[in-house]
Amino acid sequence: MSNDALAWIETELAELTASGLRASIRTIDSSMDGWVTIDGRRVLNFCANNYLGLANHPRLREAAKRAIDQYGIGPGAVRTIAGTMTQHLELERRLAEFKHAEACITFQSGFTANLATVPALMGDGDLIFSDELNHASIIDACRLSKARTIRYAHNDIDDLRRKLAGAPQFRRRLIISDGVFSMDGDIAPLDKLCEVAEAHSALLMVDDAHGEGVLGKGGRGIVDHFGLHGRVDIEVGTLSKAFGVVGGLVAGKQPLIDWLRQRGRPFLFSSAMTVPDVAACIEAVNILQESDELVTQLWENARILRAGMQTLGFDTGHSQTPIVPLMLGDASLAQQFSRKLFEQGLFAMAIGFPTVAMGKARIRVMNSAAHSQADLEQALDIFEAVGKELKVI
Ligand SMILES: Cc1ncc(COP(=O)(O)O)c(C=O)c1O
Repeated sequence: MSNDALAWIETELAELTASGLRASIRTIDSSMDGWVTIDGRRVLNFCANNYLGLANHPRLREAAKRAIDQYGIGPGAVRTIAGTMTQHLELERRLAEFKHAEACITFQSGFTANLATVPALMGDGDLIFSDELNHASIIDACRLSKARTIRYAHNDIDDLRRKLAGAPQFRRRLIISDGVFSMDGDIAPLDKLCEVAEAHSALLMVDDAHGEGVLGKGGRGIVDHFGLHGRVDIEVGTLSKAFGVVGGLVAGKQPLIDWLRQRGRPFLFSSAMTVPDVAACIEAVNILQESDELVTQLWENARILRAGMQTLGFDTGHSQTPIVPLMLGDASLAQQFSRKLFEQGLFAMAIGFPTVAMGKARIRVMNSAAHSQADLEQALDIFEAVGKELKVI
């Protein structure tokens, strides 16, 4: 009986396969780095969010090993029962200090940080104004909160103002935006969002997943980038991308963080980050506080790659960050392009509908400080060869 009840899944999967929309998931058989092993081959990796090359950094590896020797591995509980270890508090204190925020709380991931935060602040009778291109975790968090969500046009402050002015009765209002939009690499106009939020007495939340460790002085994030310390109510971030580990964070004023410790459901009902994760994250903060070398290297690599692509004649969109979209338009062309890149020894994903709008398919090229100058030159040679073969350039 139970098999029959699941039969629809096979039908749906078959349809996904037939329409070319079934995700084929590549398996990495090496550490995450500028080069990775896939299907027994070493390939240049322009696919991961390992912006600073910390995912396989010797200091993070050592820190994780030392912590395991001292504290073991699992926390054994959710944070509010027995899962808060001295290291969790140390990481939160260090992150707050690094980001010049009053306080900080960590979660198991950036996704759960969003799921914790929005429903803890907003509920029935409240209004959320959400950028139309916000990340799935924000969309889900808004749904979970049961507040009414009004989408405004992407990065369009005038549309946001209009929608705020025409908004119906409400209890609380929250404006929420990604910091860096990960498919185009553009940056939210946080300074203007801040002005609008202040003018309308609305809360402002930014999800800086792709700006954490990338934007701002030494990677201190989007709030630092715009010099808005103390003016953005809720700064969500991730430790899973530039920080090279896994985890999420919220930085803000002390009462907000105290509230999330009481009402952020993933904090209360899902086990804490593991010991090696936390120790590695602390080491990542140490590295970033000591020097901005990796952040500078990332931006320099991105500059070289973007300039090289443009010289070759590729359309690299309007990214303002180390994410370089190679705009191709047609989804099957993008798929083919990605396959050819892989054949030539470079791993970069094709992104198509519904992740981006129909007709806006692309290869998303993710830069990393882990790439050497020779890697970048080799990558540009491969992009040129595939671009010419497929008559894109
Ligand atoms: C804007 C944004 N928020 C949240 C997340 C999720 O972060 P994590 O991988 O730490 O759950 C991502 C990652 O894709 C993201 O881009």
